[in-house]
Amino acid sequence: MTSPRTTLSLVDTDPAELAVDAIVIGVHSQTTEPGSGAPAHALLLATGGESIAAAFDGKLTETLALLGATGGPGEVIKLATLGTVTAPLVVAVGLGPEPSGAAPAPESLRRAAGAAVRALAGAPRVALALPLPDDADAPAALRAVAEGALLGGYRFAGYKTKPQPARREPVAEVLVAVPDAADATAQAEIARAQAVAGAVRTSRDWVNTAPNELRPPAFADVVSAAAREAGLEVEVLDEAALAAGGYGGILAVGQGSEAPPRLVKLTYTPDGGGNGKRVALVGKGITFDTGGISIKPAQGMWEMKSDMAGAAAVGAAMLAVAALKPSVTVTGYLPMAENMPSGTSYRPGDVISMFNGKKVEVLNTDAEGRMVLADAMARACADGADYLFETSTLTGGQVIALGKRIAGVMGTQELCERVRVAGDATGEPAWPMPLPDDVRKGMESEVADISQVNAGMDRAGHMLQGGVFLREFVTDDVAWAHIDIAGPGYHSGEATGYWTKGGTGVPVRTLVHLVEDVAANG
Ligand code: BES
Ligand code: MN
Ligand code: ZN
Repeated sequence: MTSPRTTLSLVDTDPAELAVDAIVIGVHSQTTEPGSGAPAHALLLATGGESIAAAFDGKLTETLALLGATGGPGEVIKLATLGTVTAPLVVAVGLGPEPSGAAPAPESLRRAAGAAVRALAGAPRVALALPLPDDADAPAALRAVAEGALLGGYRFAGYKTKPQPARREPVAEVLVAVPDAADATAQAEIARAQAVAGAVRTSRDWVNTAPNELRPPAFADVVSAAAREAGLEVEVLDEAALAAGGYGGILAVGQGSEAPPRLVKLTYTPDGGGNGKRVALVGKGITFDTGGISIKPAQGMWEMKSDMAGAAAVGAAMLAVAALKPSVTVTGYLPMAENMPSGTSYRPGDVISMFNGKKVEVLNTDAEGRMVLADAMARACADGADYLFETSTLTGGQVIALGKRIAGVMGTQELCERVRVAGDATGEPAWPMPLPDDVRKGMESEVADISQVNAGMDRAGHMLQGGVFLREFVTDDVAWAHIDIAGPGYHSGEATGYWTKGGTGVPVRTLVHLVEDVAANG
């Protein structure tokens, strides 16, 4: 299921003269000093919109304020131009208070561009004249605007059989106004944004696909086809290969389903061997998580179609890597299984022999993510990874601790900090969490090497239990980070900024950023 794509290009002609269906400008909110005589809330035009304001004879912000504009983040106000400028519509998007520095933060621009393009569905061709700095921050700002526009233009194709008259088509073409459209750095940012946002959109499509259409063999097929087309090396282990290879964790989780499990391995090899480092990306690919024998409550269970968001992010990030060609070897590992209750399911009390030889006592079949990830991570280590980034919708505890926006990060300290920095740079915030010894103690098993969860079924530090468990499957010489995206991987609320309902594509941008970081800095 592929959603329609939005195209993006640069322009450097006067925004007032652009023949487009709508022109987007930015407005800031500004709170004035009490007693200064000025109105309490003034609307401030952001840079980029000057020629539009001039065409309105200095009455633009006044008119927008009259229409209710406050400049608050995410606000979108539309104004018919009645011939003042070439475009029939001016759209003012709120950027929040004017920052003390020159330009808004990249994430503010990303969200504003997303909100504007989303609100303009139905308009085939729009231009963005948003504030872009002309200093060293210019590339990051342009990247943010471009990504926001492409992601706000995302819509899942869906399954409706009847035409939807009220539904407007996503914007097909976005022009971004810059000082010099021929500038090579700006052009490179647009190309990069297209690759990265394309990957985010692909990962959203996979997450949003109905779970009956994306059971492990089908998921493996669709990822493999996309990866082959991108020029990646593809290896798929089916249930027989998994059994022969000793992948006890993946097999145990998958054995309750009629659709057998898979492990998909995607490899990107840089020309000339790159910088000699190897990056492994591992993503949880539970195509549906019922909980298995430890079955989940019915309410909200449908959202567990998103339990493959980690694998979707890794597969999609690999597509972006294939396009961006960083100078480092990157391998993606996508363990896929459907966690179902049946007469063949694995059960609490089972002891599973994992890929690295460790024995795990199962206490709760709903803690299935760590079972499939442990095998895939151990395989990545056996393949010689130097850096291992793993991401998964692993624990409800992540949502309780950090909420729906901020991912939890556990692993080797230096790499956790790199993930935090990458998340900050890409607008995908992530926060480091500890791996405490007492949590590991609570996971001692009477009969096996480790219990899958705290033996007393103590939910305290749930997210940390996941990290502590996964650590057992990473060899000592490998730098690793576990990124729990249970909250940020899926957006159940109404669309906001560049987030649409459903899959978010988190953390594709972080993973691509990290790969580029390792390529550049080792
Ligand atoms: N896929 C879930 C985690 C999850 C919860 C993701 C909410 C997204 C939103 C995971 O497999 C799970 O069931 N985790 C359990 C672990 C427990 C049984 C040890 C949880 O978090 O409750
Ligand atoms: Mn589960
Ligand atoms: Zn799960």
